[in-house]
Amino acid sequence: MNKEITKKILEAAVMAPSGDNVQPWKFEVSENFTQIDLYNLPDKDNSYYNYQQAASYIAHGAVIENILIAAGHLGCHAEYQLFPDTLDATYVAKIILSPAQAQADPLYPAIFERNTNRFQYKRTEVTKEVLDALLFSVKNIQTANVSLVHQKDKIKQLAKELMVNDRIVFERKDIHGFLFDKIRWNQKQIEETKDGMPLGVLGLSFIERMAFPLLRFWWYVKTANIFGLSRIIGLKCWWSCRNTSLLGMISIKGNDKLAFVQGGRAMQRVWLEATVQGFAMQPIIGLTLLINRFKQGALHDFSVKHTQFVSCAAEKLPELFGVDKSETLIMGFRVGRGLSIKVKTARKEIESRID
Ligand SMILES: Cc1cc2nc3c(=O)[nH]c(=O)nc-3n(C[C@H](O)[C@H](O)[C@H](O)COP(=O)(O)O)c2cc1C
Repeated sequence: MNKEITKKILEAAVMAPSGDNVQPWKFEVSENFTQIDLYNLPDKDNSYYNYQQAASYIAHGAVIENILIAAGHLGCHAEYQLFPDTLDATYVAKIILSPAQAQADPLYPAIFERNTNRFQYKRTEVTKEVLDALLFSVKNIQTANVSLVHQKDKIKQLAKELMVNDRIVFERKDIHGFLFDKIRWNQKQIEETKDGMPLGVLGLSFIERMAFPLLRFWWYVKTANIFGLSRIIGLKCWWSCRNTSLLGMISIKGNDKLAFVQGGRAMQRVWLEATVQGFAMQPIIGLTLLINRFKQGALHDFSVKHTQFVSCAAEKLPELFGVDKSETLIMGFRVGRGLSIKVKTARKEIESRID
């Protein structure tokens, strides 16, 4: 195998999204460049959301999908095996590359264009062709399902459920602390860490941007919450969801680590297809991860009020999206057309990860 091709495949791999851009992965490449081993870095994401590494496995699914797409596009056949070593829980995937005929894949350029767009979207018609393309995008992942909702009344009901996570973030010190630890306030920080989220990707208006630095102080947030801050933040999410043309949910059969990896593959395919179709997308995964914890009876130290929020969403989301209750919710998302993102999230160098 050609070293340059394997390098290009890895360049595509690391463009995958991850919770707060923590990039919880490491790669090892064999000497002849025919094998890529993907490892989880469990300490990268110790957030409340990453219960049993679910958030990281979703990110790994996206990494694997990028590898498969890039390999086909660049002239390789890629075979993968998930969790190949039962004794090493961090060994997520073994990918074997062999030369093959290159097949241009429109999803390949989208790997580098895709981003998280948290701005408000304009209401635009989403044509049947686009809906079909999004639904069709996961057809190669048998256990995955995509549900799309474009009816205004249903969107209104869903928006009420989808907003709860943003409120919880500003009502729990631990979750708030993790988020602000991952915000990069200036170029120097971005270049030093090459991870986390620059201010410019948070979808803030000019005024919000001015006030935002204060929100890093928990004492300030706690005081402001007396006057309704966390509710206002929840309402912003409600408003964004309510005014979008399309809401979606990716679900998967099963709830083990394999299911989360496959869910991550499906997430990436839908996201890339939306990018190809010229649409912006924002994932709403924090909530689905909390629902997953709730279903496992593991919402440790959650207040009664917060548990109720999550339990209500666990009931309503499958109902409104028409998802079978036995399936695991991987990712809620909104799709639309909005301001384009000027700043990109950074990625760590690949060289440092090739052993
Ligand atoms: C498992 C996971 C959970 C995420 N949760 C959210 C979320 O709840 N809300 C949100 O706006 N973005 C969420 N994101 C998006 C990430 O913050 C984003 O992918 C990361 O910062 C990299 O930025 P990029 O997508 O623009 O490349 C999530 C991504 C992943 C993979």
